[in-house]
Amino acid sequence: MTAPIHDLVREHYAKSALAVRDASGCVENAACCGMPNYSTEELASLPEAAALASLGCGNPLMVADLREGERVLDLGSGGGIDVLLSARRVGPTGRAFGLDMTDEMLALAQRNTIEAGATNVEFLKGEIEAIPLPANSIDVVISNCVINLAADKTAVFREIARVLRPGGRLGVSDIVADDALTAAERAERGSYVGCIAGALSFREYEAGLRDAGLEDISITPTHEETAGMSSAIIRARKAELTPGAQPSTGGELIDLEMTIAAGGRARRNEPVPDPIRVLFVCTHNSARSQLAEALLTRYGGADFEVRSAGTEATRVNPLAIRVLAEIGIDWSSARSKAITEFLDERFDYVITVCDRARESCPVFPGPTNTLHWGLDDPSDVDGTDEEKLAAFRRTEQDVAGRLRPFVEVALRAAGRTPRPSLAG
Ligand SMILES: C[S@@+](CC[C@H](N)C(=O)[O-])C[C@H]1O[C@@H](n2cnc3c(N)ncnc32)[C@H](O)[C@@H]1O
Repeated sequence: MTAPIHDLVREHYAKSALAVRDASGCVENAACCGMPNYSTEELASLPEAAALASLGCGNPLMVADLREGERVLDLGSGGGIDVLLSARRVGPTGRAFGLDMTDEMLALAQRNTIEAGATNVEFLKGEIEAIPLPANSIDVVISNCVINLAADKTAVFREIARVLRPGGRLGVSDIVADDALTAAERAERGSYVGCIAGALSFREYEAGLRDAGLEDISITPTHEETAGMSSAIIRARKAELTPGAQPSTGGELIDLEMTIAAGGRARRNEPVPDPIRVLFVCTHNSARSQLAEALLTRYGGADFEVRSAGTEATRVNPLAIRVLAEIGIDWSSARSKAITEFLDERFDYVITVCDRARESCPVFPGPTNTLHWGLDDPSDVDGTDEEKLAAFRRTEQDVAGRLRPFVEVALRAAGRTPRPSLAG
């Protein structure tokens, strides 16, 4: 029963995404569900295209109270505006996930992410009635003018309660109808894809969240959209662990990373193709090549098998380990390797990341693509500890910026569709 509604909504928002992409703004007025409510500072912090892409009816971040290091999930992320704003608030140790079912929206969001230079962001393709993330893995769920579009609201509320960790929060902007309005009266006031006909009433919203097990529910109207139908801010919370229940062992976070890495493949039971093999080479395998190995391991997920080596082995620079820890990658047990360890192995790509390695890089068996990225060596920087650390952060960002297009090109060259989180 959900398929016809999903098709209708998808078709409508695909057109909206293309209209925004082509910089013509909203597709008719019906494409914009209401009136977003962002501060001048928030809008100024985003690429212009991301701000243009906003199709929400409020600002869920006003109530989400995001903190450094949190994991946020935006249901129906559209062009990515709330994901990008969340990513800034949770900082490099946090993650912001966007979930949307419309390919054109995911592509738009990814374009905006690249322009914003955000690296703690993942976009997932899927339906909010079946969220492709593990239980108890998200600190805060947000959403902006999407739940009214869902074909099965009960399933959405159940899924929110499942993915939130105990004590996790919900902060949503949505259209809500006066309790007195019948379904037919709501439909008279506007279309389904225009966020009106599918809206729940205050009482239905509250009951849906409560039945799903959420508590501390509040629904506060902010402004009227049409007679008897308002934009509202909805807040709720998942109960803390009940006495006697087992606290988290962190397993759900490993599960989360693996789900993201597999691009949802494991969930859909698809066969996993051979990974694309990449070797990063530098002189000492101490900083640049280690950063590249760590970051591609994260961004490339199950599609890539990554190694790094030096023309000689030394030690992994502790500042490389530190900047990786800042973005949630534990690289403390990595070791420096000599290239001689890999001479018999076949690699699809060998990427030299310092000029000396380019000159002395050996030839590997099989058809290998050889690339060179001339990265500045952060270990060369003299100065205070903070200045040295800043140099490592710059190199980490330089590598991250090069990896995103590389991943996309390598996946396409291998005949695979880039995951939405990595596609341009
Ligand atoms: C009105 S737009 C809002 C986009 C975004 N939240 C914003 O504020 O700009 C609705 C978005 O939700 C997505 N969407 C609608 N129903 C969905 C569903 N059942 N599952 C996943 N995405 C959905 C659409 O593809 C579209 O991108």
